[in-house]
Amino acid sequence: MKLLFFGYSLLTMCTVSGYANAQQTMSNKKVLIVYFSRTNNTKAIAEIIHQQVGGKLVALELQNSYPANYQAIVAQVAKEDESGFLPPLKTEIDSIEKYDVVFIGFPTWGMQLPPPIKSFLKQYDLSGKTVVPFNTNAGYGVGNCFDTVKKLCPKSHIPEGFSIKGGIERDGVLFVMKGEKEEEATVKIKSWLKKVNIL
Ligand SMILES: Cc1cc2nc3c(=O)[nH]c(=O)nc-3n(C[C@H](O)[C@H](O)[C@H](O)COP(=O)(O)O)c2cc1C
Repeated sequence: MKLLFFGYSLLTMCTVSGYANAQQTMSNKKVLIVYFSRTNNTKAIAEIIHQQVGGKLVALELQNSYPANYQAIVAQVAKEDESGFLPPLKTEIDSIEKYDVVFIGFPTWGMQLPPPIKSFLKQYDLSGKTVVPFNTNAGYGVGNCFDTVKKLCPKSHIPEGFSIKGGIERDGVLFVMKGEKEEEATVKIKSWLKKVNIL
């Protein structure tokens, strides 16, 4: 009987300490959420993720901002994609090495990763970290964005990314991530975070 009780106590202790360790591991992770957003849809998604996982939230800003006019920005981005130009960032991340998990948010631009995100991923070494991409787009999907994140972070662990329809600037539809759409996004984000073992 004594032996049985001892066995049970040991099992309970192991289970409890295992649980505590799992909790500790999650809460010990340092999280950075970096995003680039023009019409604030990706920003809204970044803020929902931030509410769920905490950490440091940073908006990427450029040294020279893009034109406000839609046709002008489309033309400029097409040129940058073709030449491989990496727009210099105004934002600096202090001690990137201290983060374990780096979320990276961006809209789809010309079915590609926006040049400022390419600048960020080329400038900062995310080797050994978990890099979690998220995206908004006008309904045409992520294009090759997630594949490019993988290419630019060959030594990072990259779980399945999150993508949701945002604005359609071409048609004058700018910020949509409010009301029911924001609620829908929150539900989808929570279930995605669980699926990729972050929540
Ligand atoms: C220069 C530019 C190019 C875009 N190209 C695409 C595209 O190829 N496919 C797509 O679905 N949406 C495209 N969009 C629409 C954005 O991805 C969409 O509106 C997104 O939600 C904007 O995010 P933001 O509000 O965070 O800036 C483009 C928008 C801009 C400004």
